[in-house]
Amino acid sequence: MNNEDLLKNLHENPFLLAPMAGITDCAFRSFMREMGCGIVTTELVSANGLEYASEKTKRIMKFGSTQHPVGIQIFGERLDLLGKAASRAEQMGADFIDLNFGCPVSKVVKKGAGSAVLKDLQQLRKVLKAVKSSVSIPVTIKIRTGWDESSRNADAVVKVAWEEGITWVAIHGRTRAKGYNGKADWDYIRWVKENAKLPVIGNGDIMTPEMAVRRLQESGCDGVMIGRGCLKNPWIFQEARSRLSGQPLQREERQFLLILDRLKFYLEKDCEEKILMLQIKKFSSWFSAGYPDSAKFRKSVFQIKDKNDLIDQVQIYFKSIESFIQKDTSDEPFLMGGHG
Ligand SMILES: Cc1cc2nc3c(=O)[nH]c(=O)nc-3n(C[C@H](O)[C@H](O)[C@H](O)COP(=O)(O)O)c2cc1C
Repeated sequence: MNNEDLLKNLHENPFLLAPMAGITDCAFRSFMREMGCGIVTTELVSANGLEYASEKTKRIMKFGSTQHPVGIQIFGERLDLLGKAASRAEQMGADFIDLNFGCPVSKVVKKGAGSAVLKDLQQLRKVLKAVKSSVSIPVTIKIRTGWDESSRNADAVVKVAWEEGITWVAIHGRTRAKGYNGKADWDYIRWVKENAKLPVIGNGDIMTPEMAVRRLQESGCDGVMIGRGCLKNPWIFQEARSRLSGQPLQREERQFLLILDRLKFYLEKDCEEKILMLQIKKFSSWFSAGYPDSAKFRKSVFQIKDKNDLIDQVQIYFKSIESFIQKDTSDEPFLMGGHG
């Protein structure tokens, strides 16, 4: 896919699925595309690890035909391996390469990868040049606002990205030092976007469709990326798009049994039973947030050992809450750690 087509897709649907390691796997991305999200990206893949191409790495890079446009996200510190990894992702049919400069995890930043690159703009430029020259598909980057509060430099990073021909910059509105604490700084994202010459995607703490549209409009960003919000409300993309186009929300369309069946369909295509069960337990627990007896359901579901029993219990619970409106739980701490 070329730049123009990728940006056309962004324009048509500005609500992107944020990559989340261990969550937004191949099955979940197919499911979310069906649920109305825009462009998707794989979770981060180590360029070093790809050199040895373990089964796990290959699984992370896998994507389905309905997921396009799909980007493969890579990270690493060695320019030669990053170039090779990008070229391999292109050969696998990825529509774009996304570079992770947001990962705050110590093991990653100690080696000079992930968000550590934000501290060294010369290294950033070298990485961008190495990757750009290895592929003919678009290259995008995902960053944090900076390393820490005293060195926020997303504006300078965006400038380098523009000079090196990067297609867009996605900004998670926290510094590396902040981890997942506090709130994403959308005023700062807006300021960076105002001064940027290339498309900017805003990201951080979008938990409701209303917020997705508000953040998009108030920040002036070209798109917004949603991660944890779709785990509490899998309809968030659909509802945000309806809102953006001025259509009323159709809450009666929240049919859990139907969508859980679709999720199971994708998981069955893709995973062995153990993983399938774990994913159903995780997703159904998250989807139950803000509904009656959700804590009790979460606790009981993780004790189930048999697949059919699990499906039965999940169906019974979601049938029982069908007529309830979800309570807003966006202020509760939720999944306070990740690779970006
Ligand atoms: C469990 C988890 C795993 C994550 N893995 C990745 C990843 O592989 N690559 C990445 O760029 N960001 C990763 N992130 C960061 C998200 O993409 C996103 O930037 C962050 O969660 C803030 O957005 P949100 O508030 O919409 O969730 C991860 C986040 C979480 C919670």
